Amino acid sequence: MSSGTQVGIVGAGPAGLMLGHLLHLAGIDSVIVENRSREYVIDRVRAGVLEQGTVDLLCAMGVAGGLNRRGLRHEGVYINFDGCRHRVDMAELTSGKAITVYGQNEVVKDLIDARVETGRPLYFDAQEVSVDALDATRPVIRFSHAGTSHELSCDFVAGCDGFHGVCRPSIPAGVLQIYERLYPFGWLGILAEAAPSCDELVYTYHDRGFALFSMRSTDVTRLYLQVPPDEPIANWSDDAIWDEMLRRMTTSDGWSPNVGRILQKSVTAMRSFVAAPMRHARLFLAGDAAHIVPPTGAKGLNLAAADVVVLASALKEFYETGSDAMLDGYSSICLRRVWKAQRFSWWMTTLLHRLPDETPFDHQRHLADLDYLASSRAAMTSLAEQYVGLPWEISLESLHL
Ligand code: FAD
Ligand code: PHB
Repeated sequence: MSSGTQVGIVGAGPAGLMLGHLLHLAGIDSVIVENRSREYVIDRVRAGVLEQGTVDLLCAMGVAGGLNRRGLRHEGVYINFDGCRHRVDMAELTSGKAITVYGQNEVVKDLIDARVETGRPLYFDAQEVSVDALDATRPVIRFSHAGTSHELSCDFVAGCDGFHGVCRPSIPAGVLQIYERLYPFGWLGILAEAAPSCDELVYTYHDRGFALFSMRSTDVTRLYLQVPPDEPIANWSDDAIWDEMLRRMTTSDGWSPNVGRILQKSVTAMRSFVAAPMRHARLFLAGDAAHIVPPTGAKGLNLAAADVVVLASALKEFYETGSDAMLDGYSSICLRRVWKAQRFSWWMTTLLHRLPDETPFDHQRHLADLDYLASSRAAMTSLAEQYVGLPWEISLESLHL
């Protein structure tokens, strides 16, 4: 079956769904093609921290009903080392900015509901998805769905299909420059049926390795532990996970996470990755398809949001005025933010994790870094302004949402 649209979007993660809705609000047609089921996409447990700008965006897009009701606004964050929690007062240091804890799966669910309401096409369970003719005036997305083969011709293709998608590998060899760094550790993450024992996130540096206390709601705690990158989850019984969490996180004043039934557990490897430029001919990469950060800075989903705001503005300008100046600037505008987020995520990661080859000198320097952070207003301000999110490259007002 042959059909056409203005923008073909591959992937219904946060990047693809946000882009689809921004285009809808600008009166631009799109088709979203996702290779997983709706349930899989919604149930995938991932990010939890939304920057102030991402919250403002979702509100301006009119998809923040759930976020406003159930999102948890945090004005501070704790750094825990040497048995003590040190609070960074983000709101005070950034003139009132904050982060909001609201699960990525909730964001995705809200965006799917909004998409369905628009009546615009969103295919789940698409098979054999491929992109072709990227250099032609009408590139195509091919896929099969419910036994029918589709050929969708588009003005532009948005590759929002994550790190393992098909769009980036479809760019001819030699076009992209790849920057990559792998880390010698991963995160074992759990969701637990336990009321959060602290109102704010606690990032812990411990001799036995990093640990993170986060949450999803008033009854569900989200916790992470530094483990070897290829650690089989089967090595960790629920009792062993709690034992290690409590050893790393418990502070000398007796604070520790509440223990409860483990609802979900998995191990994630860590990498920093950038593919540049984020565009080839009529294909634009956005979100994890173009860049990955280690989750310590909580930036991945927020970067995906920042990319699609730039892309939606550029497409709006193109369709309204015929100018492709902003489309031409897309990659360089996004990459400036991407590299600052890469730098911040790398810094948070190296500050808070134990490296296997750390010498006694490195270890003492590491503790001094943490001590400096906990005692210097300048250092805390730097952390706070990056954690709540640097200003957006494009003002939301310019989108006229
Ligand atoms: P994805 O979410 O990967 O979506 C891509 C979509 O494309 C998927 O639905 C996929 O199924 C689909 N797809 C793939 N291949 C194809 C294909 N061939 N055809 C069609 N569809 C395809 N970020 C934050 O900002 N804050 C946090 O607190 C945070 N915490 C994190 C914690 C963990 C443990 C992890 C792993 C990540 C975390 N992140 C965080 C990162 C965040 O989850 C990602 O950056 C975000 O999901 C990127 O969104 P995306 O839409 O670009 O990609
Ligand atoms: C989460 O709640 O899942 C979370 C919080 C902070 C991070 C990463 C993940 O840095």
